[in-house]
Amino acid sequence: MKSEILVSREWRYAVKKYDKSKNIEVEELELILKAINLAPTSYGLQPFKVIHVKGEKVRAELKTAAYNQGQITDASDLLVFAHATAVHPFIIDRYFNNLMSTRKPNIKEVETYKNHVTQALTNWPEAQQASWCDKQMYIGLSYGLQAASDLRIDSSAIEGFDQKRFAEILKINTSLWIPTVSLALGYRSKNDSSQHLAKVRLSEDELIQIFE
Ligand SMILES: Cc1cc2nc3c(=O)[nH]c(=O)nc-3n(C[C@H](O)[C@H](O)[C@H](O)COP(=O)(O)O)c2cc1C
Repeated sequence: MKSEILVSREWRYAVKKYDKSKNIEVEELELILKAINLAPTSYGLQPFKVIHVKGEKVRAELKTAAYNQGQITDASDLLVFAHATAVHPFIIDRYFNNLMSTRKPNIKEVETYKNHVTQALTNWPEAQQASWCDKQMYIGLSYGLQAASDLRIDSSAIEGFDQKRFAEILKINTSLWIPTVSLALGYRSKNDSSQHLAKVRLSEDELIQIFE
């Protein structure tokens, strides 16, 4: 019997055409959002945010800024991921405030650790900080993709959009956040021919190097 781990991953594909008549149950969407929030990030800082875009009109505008990709409007739900433009002080503060109230640790030790984290990340040039935040965000995306698939909810990760236009439409303060990837969630149309395509992947020999 094939492991559910592989069954779920092989079932998922990048949906191009959604069945507009089918919506995700609220409880299932909540599960996916919780899974995204449980994604690990370096130092636990979670330097990104997830915007659940609800308005139909806004989604239509986003579609035009995404080269008219139909997934933006036709999926049941649309999440837009925006990463922080740098490791801003509030990103560090909110984590450490949360740590203090959640674990009630020794204050002195936490202060030393907070200084270490601040030094380690904020001495980088801003572009490197932005890139680090971007990488953390994709772990969240990946958790969302996988949680959806475990629930047999279809999904599409979408990077193909004009980030500047997305930011304008969603009124995102681009000095703090950059919208970089979207996650459409819903149910595949039976007319989506992509579902019949074989997966194109490296052989494990190409992907995995053994080093003894
Ligand atoms: C981060 C990311 C961004 C993507 N952006 C787009 C996109 O803008 N438009 C699109 O049609 N597919 C997009 N894809 C889908 C990929 O092309 C697809 O995942 C890949 O070809 C592998 O196919 P599979 O997901 O069906 O296994 C994106 C995938 C990822 C992971």
